[in-house]
Amino acid sequence: MNESEAQVAALAAYFARHSAVPLAAQRPALLFRPPAGLDAVAELRPGPCVQSHKPTAEALQQSGWQVLDAPRETCRLAIVFATKHKEEILHHLALAAEALEEGGSLILVAANTLGAPSLERRLGELTGRTETFSKHKCRVVRAFKADAQLNPALLADWKRGGELRRLPATGCYSCPGLFSWKSLDLGSRLLAARLPADLSGCGADLGAGYGYLAREALQCAPGIRELHLVEAEGKALAAAQLNLADVAGTRRLHYHWADVTAGLPLVRLDFVLMNPPFHAGRAPLPALGRAFVREALRLLKPGGRLLLVANRQLPYEAEIRSMGGEIGSAEETQGFKIIQATKVRQADAQARLSM
Ligand SMILES: C[S@@+](CC[C@H](N)C(=O)[O-])C[C@H]1O[C@@H](n2cnc3c(N)ncnc32)[C@H](O)[C@@H]1O
Repeated sequence: MNESEAQVAALAAYFARHSAVPLAAQRPALLFRPPAGLDAVAELRPGPCVQSHKPTAEALQQSGWQVLDAPRETCRLAIVFATKHKEEILHHLALAAEALEEGGSLILVAANTLGAPSLERRLGELTGRTETFSKHKCRVVRAFKADAQLNPALLADWKRGGELRRLPATGCYSCPGLFSWKSLDLGSRLLAARLPADLSGCGADLGAGYGYLAREALQCAPGIRELHLVEAEGKALAAAQLNLADVAGTRRLHYHWADVTAGLPLVRLDFVLMNPPFHAGRAPLPALGRAFVREALRLLKPGGRLLLVANRQLPYEAEIRSMGGEIGSAEETQGFKIIQATKVRQADAQARLSM
């Protein structure tokens, strides 16, 4: 069981044991960052949830959940699922506490590996009183909203801590929960420093994050006339729009909240840039990076260029060749490799296997 599955199983066990928890007194609960697979929690009826990760959001919508980017209404029960970013969890706890009506319940579900004991303590600091249930190496912590006991300074602090803002250290807008949110990734910096000034035409940044690589490309290559930023995390895309506002000029920018591995409606690109992901949550998932590489080659026109940075040990070369790419240069430095490849032929359609 991975952390998400364990959290869902722990919540199901909690409801099975605590049938008296007012399951929203017939109103649906408000969920923050729920994983897909909530059908396992029989007591939960689909309702509103805050989820900005596209593949998860789509899976939830297919099960009848209403995906929001922020709470719209008050609720009697709010459930926050822990993620790997502490500031993001605290931000969601603050939003949940704010959305709750007086006397409502706030439930935090956190795997021990995501810091459950310390999160339980923090939630107690915010609300004054908590109850805990442990199962599947997770804690399910229930707090009660009583305005008289709520710590307003902490609530304001946690809320602010998760918001999008410009960080002096990077010069970029970002927020907790995004890849490398408060320091520029070394791999991306190495690729940025090697971006050719003659990149031109229409291209894409796959897994664009908060837009750092795209920004660097637009700044160094005036011949870029159009750029597609594709990113699964909606908050990253919102940050990218702010980060590119002053470098776009007359170039056309397109923002796609999309899963790269699901296939993109783009064709005949002149270039693709990327620092492909190879994790799902905290678990390594090298197949994800390979799927990115296949999609990048598929989108390029013959003669189109791929510029990619990856950890040195990740084996993308075979993927590039199998999709009709020819590697022009592969430089290794500081634990990374920067690959420049050209698409020389159309790949066999069969080669584009799903993950
Ligand atoms: C290694 S980061 C690179 C971010 C950015 N390009 C940079 O260089 O700073 C990979 C990005 O891919 C995004 N990502 C992960 N899975 C994705 C998917 N299936 N589709 C689209 N983007 C995805 C992540 O949210 C993350 O922002």
